[in-house]
Amino acid sequence: MAGVAPGRSPPAGAREGVRVAVSESETAARKTVLVTGAAGYVASQLLPAFRERYDLRLVDITREGRGGWVVDDVLLHDLRETDLERHRALFAGAHAVVHLAHNRGPRPGGVRRYEDEKRNVDMAYHVYQLALEEGLERVVMASSNHAADWYEDRVLAGEREAVTPDERPLARTFYGWAKAAYEHMGFLYAQGTFGRPLGVVQVRIGHPRGLEHYDFTGRPGAFKRNLGAFISARDLAQLFCRALDTPDIADAGGVPFQIVYGISDNTRAFWSLSNARRVLGYAPQDDSELLYAETVARLLGASPGRSGTGGDE
Ligand SMILES: NC(=O)c1ccc[n+]([C@@H]2O[C@H](COP(=O)([O-])OP(=O)(O)OC[C@H]3O[C@@H](n4cnc5c(N)ncnc54)[C@H](O)[C@@H]3O)[C@@H](O)[C@H]2O)c1
Repeated sequence: MAGVAPGRSPPAGAREGVRVAVSESETAARKTVLVTGAAGYVASQLLPAFRERYDLRLVDITREGRGGWVVDDVLLHDLRETDLERHRALFAGAHAVVHLAHNRGPRPGGVRRYEDEKRNVDMAYHVYQLALEEGLERVVMASSNHAADWYEDRVLAGEREAVTPDERPLARTFYGWAKAAYEHMGFLYAQGTFGRPLGVVQVRIGHPRGLEHYDFTGRPGAFKRNLGAFISARDLAQLFCRALDTPDIADAGGVPFQIVYGISDNTRAFWSLSNARRVLGYAPQDDSELLYAETVARLLGASPGRSGTGGDE
């Protein structure tokens, strides 16, 4: 794959060279897309499709991903710097930005800290503000299912069937709170508060990793949850490309703003893909139930009911 240096294997999306169908009209004018957090895991799932489709500007504070892979065409740049002039050139002349950069920070006792998540909100502000000032058409931002994960417990307890992006985002942690905060910040920019409406799509990513990497033995609830939350590399790439390329992303009030869930076409889905399908034309190709049929039979064959919870991304 162009741009990924040999060394430790990149994850599935990068290995398999995810392809997303490209129409003639879409290839006619290649968009210039700035990708932040370009050495990260989610970027590794998206870059193969992005490289085929767009002219890319890749930025990160490192060229080495968490799994040890190296993306050698990343420009080293820290988006937390509060002087916006230092970032301006990255945005100038671009059509869109895909914001994946994320400050993880330490997690004392497994808990994400307010200070670290506040930095993520600051970084999102830098992205929106420069996208606005430099005339970009679209901001596509990685959010998370955890922006509204309070509802997940209600689903798993059997008190409700599903969660939709239209509901008030109620989170359980500062991680989810920060996602909800910068989703809402995007709505200010989208409605035109600062001069012109900026198109904004927030992707509440579910579980973008193969379930074979985890041992769910004795944890049927966690397995079921992740069967619902799973998104394959090719579906993730398709969703982000649709978020970048769909011309009209107006919500019911005419504001160019969407929050979509990012999962595959899972039999056990409990997050709504309604607006992802209707507005973006997202047509996921994978279903975790089929991909992991053997494990489903082995772990869930005699395990009725819903319970358990997942990770915190
Ligand atoms: N991986 C998941 O399971 C998952 C699930 C749901 C949502 N998400 C969201 O997707 C986004 C990307 O996640 P990921 O798994 O790729 O994370 P990651 O940690 O693998 O990648 C994030 C990248 O951002 C870079 N970064 C951090 N601070 C930066 C800064 N100041 N300037 C520029 N770059 C900076 C990091 O170096 C890293 O390469 C995050 O917002 C995350 O919350 C991820």
